[in-house]
Amino acid sequence: MQRTPLIAGNWKMHTTTSEAVALAKSVAEASRGLADRQVMIAPPFTALAAVAEAVKGSGVHVAGQNVCWAEKGAFTGEIAPGMLLDIGCTMAIIGHSERRHIFGETDAMINKRVAGAQAAGLIPILCIGETLAEREAERTFAVLEAQLRQGLAGITVADPAQLVIAYEPVWAIGTGKTASKEQAQEAHAFVRNLLAEIYEKNIACQIRILYGGSVNSDNVDALMQQADVDGALVGGAALKADTFARIIRFQK
Ligand code: 13P
Repeated sequence: MQRTPLIAGNWKMHTTTSEAVALAKSVAEASRGLADRQVMIAPPFTALAAVAEAVKGSGVHVAGQNVCWAEKGAFTGEIAPGMLLDIGCTMAIIGHSERRHIFGETDAMINKRVAGAQAAGLIPILCIGETLAEREAERTFAVLEAQLRQGLAGITVADPAQLVIAYEPVWAIGTGKTASKEQAQEAHAFVRNLLAEIYEKNIACQIRILYGGSVNSDNVDALMQQADVDGALVGGAALKADTFARIIRFQK
């Protein structure tokens, strides 16, 4: 089953607007002529419009690092799906572990965000992942199952290309401790089987599952060679133009 690989850069709370535009231009340059994969960048909200303008026509997708479920209203600090679409975003990261663990976002809230993004026509990238304590207690699969089932509650999938899951083990984020390719494949296969239960096999095998957590230019190839790893969600290494250029050019 054909799944177009997606290499995504999550810039988190980094870059001023001018830094963001410069980095975005180098990502567009590095992505030129790569027809067999998609590239996405998620700058901070303040730089989104300028970045979307800078990469216009390059094929590079631009995403919000979060998105609200409502179209408008009294939601101080939030950004509506329509606002992201208005400036050229096509995707939104939802349920990132930093949102869950630092800002207390719940599965119910994350589920509403996924629904809101999807209804508006944004591709939700639903992030799930276990903490170190949960892995050591052998609760990884239980945690992934709960986060996936609750995050996707009531979500129907008409086009499997319009939903992306990101497996990001919390212990691998920003630590330099990447999951081994075997650990990544095991978790991704588990997620795909679960997607087959929630939807159906034919849909599950078309949904992209990204790996995130200390992805760099040295480990990306081995990760991308795993059968169920369809892309990468890259944090720190996405802020370095040369390194991210090499990640975009992963070799299977
Ligand atoms: P690092 O690549 O810095 O570990 O961050 C991963 C991440 O959280 C991407 O969303």
